Amino acid sequence: MTNQIPVTPPPGTRPLIEQACAERPRLSGLVCDVSEDAGILAIEARVRAAFGGLDLLINNAGMQMQDDLTDPATGFDGIDAEIRTNLIAPIKLTRTLLPLMAGRSGAAIVNVVSLLAVMAKPSAPVYCATKAGLLQFTRAMDLVLAGSGLTMVSAMPPLVETAMTHGRGANKMSAEDCAAELLRQLLAGRKDIRIGQARGQMAIHRFFPALAEAITRRRSAGVTLPENAAATSGSTAQKGRLPA
Ligand SMILES: NC(=O)c1ccc[n+]([C@@H]2O[C@H](COP(=O)([O-])OP(=O)(O)OC[C@H]3O[C@@H](n4cnc5c(N)ncnc54)[C@H](OP(=O)(O)O)[C@@H]3O)[C@@H](O)[C@H]2O)c1
Repeated sequence: MTNQIPVTPPPGTRPLIEQACAERPRLSGLVCDVSEDAGILAIEARVRAAFGGLDLLINNAGMQMQDDLTDPATGFDGIDAEIRTNLIAPIKLTRTLLPLMAGRSGAAIVNVVSLLAVMAKPSAPVYCATKAGLLQFTRAMDLVLAGSGLTMVSAMPPLVETAMTHGRGANKMSAEDCAAELLRQLLAGRKDIRIGQARGQMAIHRFFPALAEAITRRRSAGVTLPENAAATSGSTAQKGRLPA
């Protein structure tokens, strides 16, 4: 595998990408919005032009809304954006980049899912739906690609300290440790990567689903933070009480 990595966050992250690329000659950065078709086509064009092929796609971009679907005032925009980013983008990126991965031994597509793909949480129903959909998409595509040499992998993190979870939950894993564990299990050939506490919670869920869901909800329990009470943070779009 090559260690050249195209990275693709939206414009807010542009300075970080430019700095990372300046510091690492083998890193190629591309800033785009994966919820738009233009962003997905731009990634394909860049990978094709710069590398001619692709060994590893990690669909990590994600967002989590707090919209109250019981409120008639809640519009469609947030719902559309969350589904486009969390579910449709990984599907379209898979469809678009597969030709560049064909015939490359050991190539893999990793979809970052969540415990909420399996365990429902009332404060983020659309997020739960997108992650459940992404998990099943991963499994179904792995059947489609059986024998091709290309692997579909799901990666399920525990609660990780990031902008998405800032200010809530306890005993969170660092993003660095989570990424390192993801790569360790990927290199070990695992297709269903479960990281940190996600592994234990999935084991409990197998035999005691209600207990596992209660633990998940409690561990990631929302904490009402005055400074976040009406905040919407970029594409992560957290408002008020934060979900898992
Ligand atoms: N944190 C957790 O506890 C946890 C647990 C389970 C699963 N996950 C999953 O892990 C992944 C990473 O989440 P995180 O915790 O690191 O969240 P985060 O801190 O909010 O980061 C999300 C990342 O996705 C990017 N992104 C969002 N919308 C995008 C778009 N339309 N186009 C391109 N990039 C976009 C963001 O870019 P900007 O920052 O520039 O907006 C940011 O880099 C997500 O798929 C999430 O669902 C997280």
